[in-house]
Amino acid sequence: MSYTEELQATAKAMVEKGKGILAADESNPTCTKRLDSIGVESNAGKRNEYRDMLFSSNDLEKYISGVILFDETFRQSTTCNEKIPFTNYLKNKGIIPGIKVDTGAKVLAGFENEKITEGLDGLRGRLQEYYKLGARFAKWRAVITIGSNIPSDACIYANAHALARYAALCQESGLVPIVEPEVLMEGKHTVEICYEVSQRTLNVVFEQLCLNHVMLEGIVLKPNMIISGNKCSVQAGIEEVASRTVECLKFTVPSLVPGIAFLSGGQSNENATAHLNMMNAKYGDDLPWNLTYSYGRALQQSALNTWLGKAENLSAAQEAFFQRAKLNGLASRGEYSESMEEVSI
Ligand code: 13P
Repeated sequence: MSYTEELQATAKAMVEKGKGILAADESNPTCTKRLDSIGVESNAGKRNEYRDMLFSSNDLEKYISGVILFDETFRQSTTCNEKIPFTNYLKNKGIIPGIKVDTGAKVLAGFENEKITEGLDGLRGRLQEYYKLGARFAKWRAVITIGSNIPSDACIYANAHALARYAALCQESGLVPIVEPEVLMEGKHTVEICYEVSQRTLNVVFEQLCLNHVMLEGIVLKPNMIISGNKCSVQAGIEEVASRTVECLKFTVPSLVPGIAFLSGGQSNENATAHLNMMNAKYGDDLPWNLTYSYGRALQQSALNTWLGKAENLSAAQEAFFQRAKLNGLASRGEYSESMEEVSI
């Protein structure tokens, strides 16, 4: 494979100790939901301004190794005096630009409560274009729902197969695939059920990756943590989430994979940070892969609520964002403590 060394180097850089990945690849409808929540009308200009606020935060590169972009943002530029394409702007800061390439999760035919992620048709051409435009990694999110008698094997196999075909195509074009099989936290299920379903899913994902000749040293895995369903009456504590998540990953993720960057999935900012920290503090030294973050909401929520679409809130919003990036950076080294939430650092 012609990109072998480059892919391995990119994957390593994405999960470098002390840093993580910012997921800022909300599709336009999802970004509209976020902007609606702060009473800001969503249009291409406002979305551009919002992303510019995040990316131009001072010293972001200390804690952010890469940013996942949506196609619209990928083609946008900084909004201040000089209009620099975001891809160049991030690269100049030492941050790797990435691109979301799936086209969304749709109902799986024959399984009305389950989803299959689409986007394989024409993907090779799109990946080649994104590489030329400066992307060095990509993202594809599969969604697995827990409910009565689901997930079905059909849903797990279809999604794992699509993830593997996407990953193989990415590597052919020089892009590191972020492989994201997300087991949703929505539901009444217990932490044990989340463990079982995540283990089943990850086993099939790695079976399919190997079957499709994906080079494991050149991927980044983006899984959910093992947590209780958000409507479950018993919520697993931080130590339990950390130990179950690490155990599940040890059983399923080959040691060739350089790094695992978790999604936040609807956890509170503080929980997402505390869980990652506990895993690294307690188990980090004994694991074959780096454990870090690739959060969307858990990195952006406080900045969004501070910004409110107003120019006068720009620096306060950037500070709020930087604070979350820094706390997660510390958590990826196991050096975070809850008391750091109190003070602005
Ligand atoms: P959350 O951290 O908000 O779950 O988003 C991460 C992501 O990229 C989902 O695909």
